[in-house]
Amino acid sequence: MRTTAAVLRELGGRWEVEEVELDPPGPGEVLVEIAASGLCHSDEHLVTGDLPVAFPMVGGHEGAGRVLEAGPGVTEVEVGDPVVMTFLPSCGRCSYCVRGWTSLCNDGAGATLGPQLDGTYRFHSRGADVGQMCLLGTFARHTVVPVKSVVTIDEGFPLHLAALVGCGVTTGFGSAVRSAELRAGDACVVIGIGGVGANAVQGARVAGCRYVVAVDPVRFKRETALKLGATHVAGSMDEAWNLVSQLTRGQLADAAILCTGVAEGSYLQPALQLVGKKGRVVVTALGHPDEETASLSLLDLTLYEKQIRGALFGSSNGQHDVPRLLEMANLGMLELQELITREYALEDINQGFDDMRHGRNIRGLIRF
Ligand SMILES: NC(=O)c1ccc[n+]([C@@H]2O[C@H](COP(=O)([O-])OP(=O)(O)OC[C@H]3O[C@@H](n4cnc5c(N)ncnc54)[C@H](O)[C@@H]3O)[C@@H](O)[C@H]2O)c1
Ligand SMILES: [Zn+2]
Ligand SMILES: [Zn+2]
Repeated sequence: MRTTAAVLRELGGRWEVEEVELDPPGPGEVLVEIAASGLCHSDEHLVTGDLPVAFPMVGGHEGAGRVLEAGPGVTEVEVGDPVVMTFLPSCGRCSYCVRGWTSLCNDGAGATLGPQLDGTYRFHSRGADVGQMCLLGTFARHTVVPVKSVVTIDEGFPLHLAALVGCGVTTGFGSAVRSAELRAGDACVVIGIGGVGANAVQGARVAGCRYVVAVDPVRFKRETALKLGATHVAGSMDEAWNLVSQLTRGQLADAAILCTGVAEGSYLQPALQLVGKKGRVVVTALGHPDEETASLSLLDLTLYEKQIRGALFGSSNGQHDVPRLLEMANLGMLELQELITREYALEDINQGFDDMRHGRNIRGLIRF
């Protein structure tokens, strides 16, 4: 079939909205009509080269829609089902999936490289194969994705809100609740209040933290963080240190969650200084692929038993966490609408990324 997609053709390029050819779903795949797609900073990493990929590529890895057609052998979903597309597949059978670490599923290993799980391509344009960001490519009216990447949701849940749970909501919430292991009464610092950090704030609040300190240089981000459950805000990690030190009488935070647009090696020591004994620094933001240095006090790690942890998809488990987060939204425990600062037509996607770069959005959302 023919459909419309936003394609990135080169490093540093603009998203080109164009007519593309889309193959029917193969075995284990589904054709999805997309209702909405969030603009996550990880797609910006395709432009800057912080996520190395092969071009051309249909971007987008945070979306929701409806199953239009199921490929051979698909029994998990039915035509017409509303689904969230998660940016990592889970096979349910690999060594990581069976231990409940589905965000580390072996099928996710090459998810940003472009081709589908069988090594072939579903999108084609201008005589060439076109890859799909995270096996999805949600910057398109239609896409074909592995059924391993979709989670069926309740009929009636607004699809444009559900879209955000495909990456940002689950990643941020999980980074706080799962990766940072925040508990009632803890103190937490979230650094960087975009679509991911805003949900780390919500996770910390739901976990019952007594202090949730949101750090962002942009005033609008700090104001939104307060609406989402932050108890305090700061414009920088230095400023946050003074605040947290005072609030906790020098005990400092139980966790600091790094959700900045890019993770820099130089952020690690200031983040480590924000946490006290047994404190966790959670690295959710993506660093530069070639950067292998980070400055930090090894003595602090030993003497205070501080820890540094990576978090992929917030160590979440899509089939379990996505429906649960939507239910929490229904119960008023989780804010989704407030996360959407602006909506765009697919044709205006470059405006959406410009707004992200200038700190104007918590999340920008493409609606079809
Ligand atoms: N680990 C995962 O599974 C996963 C999933 C999704 C996104 N990510 C990554 O998470 C990061 C955040 O994504 P996003 O979509 O929320 O980005 P975003 O661009 O929407 O938000 C980033 C925020 O960080 C703020 N910021 C930048 N530098 C800062 C600093 N030094 N101190 C404090 N705040 C600072 C910006 O003002 C902005 O508000 C990105 O690196 C993204 O690639 C990781
Ligand atoms: Zn993302
Ligand atoms: Zn697996």
